[in-house]
Amino acid sequence: MDTFEALTSRTTIHRFSEEPVDETSIDRALEAAVAAPNHKLTNPWRFTRIGDETQQSITELYLELKRESKGSLTDEQVREYRQKIGGPPVVIAVSQVLDDDAFRRKEDYAAVACAAQNLMLSLWNDGISSKWSTGSVTRHQETYHMLGIDADREEIVGFIFAGFPRDDHRDTQKPPREPLEDVVREVP
Ligand SMILES: Cc1cc2nc3c(=O)[nH]c(=O)nc-3n(C[C@H](O)[C@H](O)[C@H](O)COP(=O)(O)O)c2cc1C
Repeated sequence: MDTFEALTSRTTIHRFSEEPVDETSIDRALEAAVAAPNHKLTNPWRFTRIGDETQQSITELYLELKRESKGSLTDEQVREYRQKIGGPPVVIAVSQVLDDDAFRRKEDYAAVACAAQNLMLSLWNDGISSKWSTGSVTRHQETYHMLGIDADREEIVGFIFAGFPRDDHRDTQKPPREPLEDVVREVP
């Protein structure tokens, strides 16, 4: 896959099969992530690999939040929500070390976003799908606690779920973008 093809073909997958992901691909993706541009070489990114036990605890927290917002859940909803959070074989929390200076923080967020994209593109290049999620559970204080992240010093920018599409998500189409003429302008 050349770079342009990787950039334009990557698409978010929302449900994953149980098929495991090769550790080599994860290591490569993390290397790609830290190769992202970062102003002043602040290396503002941190990556927390979430193991099975913590993933299951986060899934339970997610179900609790869903019950709070929706009331009771059907068995089918519980199954689907468990699959959504507990199903992906790889979950990595990407976080940003928080600088005291507001402008540096903004630039560091941009750098961490580039790192997250590098991570997903490297996986994609190895045939592995992913999803960047900023759902409520990724921002919950209990999640910070479970991951050992001090929210005063570091902010979770998202979870990257990764693996292979579940059978009914294999044919996911990339959502179309607005045409270039609507988003590109030229000045003389
Ligand atoms: C900062 C950020 C946060 C995102 N959070 C979520 C999320 O919480 N839930 C979700 O379904 N998708 C999330 N996405 C994925 C987008 O929905 C997805 O990229 C978009 O639909 C375009 O699809 P594509 O990635 O296949 O091109 C997020 C993407 C970004 C960049």
